[in-house]
Amino acid sequence: MMASAIKKAIFPVGGMGTRFLPATKSLPKEMLPVVDKPLIHYAFEEAVAAGIEQFIFVTGRNKNAISNHFDHSYELQRTLSEKNKQRELDLTSAWLPDAGNIIFTRQMEPLGLGHAVWCARHWIGDDPFAVILADDMVLADTPCLKQMVDMYHQTPGNLAAVMDVPREHTQKY
Ligand code: UTP
Repeated sequence: MMASAIKKAIFPVGGMGTRFLPATKSLPKEMLPVVDKPLIHYAFEEAVAAGIEQFIFVTGRNKNAISNHFDHSYELQRTLSEKNKQRELDLTSAWLPDAGNIIFTRQMEPLGLGHAVWCARHWIGDDPFAVILADDMVLADTPCLKQMVDMYHQTPGNLAAVMDVPREHTQKY
């Protein structure tokens, strides 16, 4: 039987981010920038490159920064448009998915990663799905999730991407 395409991804972004305090006091760690994009934006691009079409964010406190990032910013877009700043306009909104393809649900209590994924269950149903942890940024010629989706089509089943960590660093994870 052919595995059905993976069109849905869950982004658990409800963690407390205590290791990055005070940066994460009022900002989710997934909004911390690396050069000119917040981490969550890299994760979003990785999902798009893997063929994902529906994006499910499981948020916690301070969720507004993330939901605002994935929405139009009319004031900003209007100002950029009046000034004919097309490049900046594209950076602001050209990449946004169509309305209805981004879903936000609240975890309500930070009970851990497994619980965050479980909170998305009604949006997933029986469909295959991806989970992306935006705070693990992977640099690869073929984006990590794309590699995993390709592998899933060869060998359907549960797949996890893992990384070797020196033993003395394991307590950081
Ligand atoms: P982490 O293990 O990095 O935990 O979560 P954390 O709470 O975010 O960070 P520290 O340890 O306090 O510094 C891994 C992923 O799971 C999400 C996080 O947002 C991160 O993407 N997560 C974690 C949730 O969505 N909910 C939780 O209750 C815990």
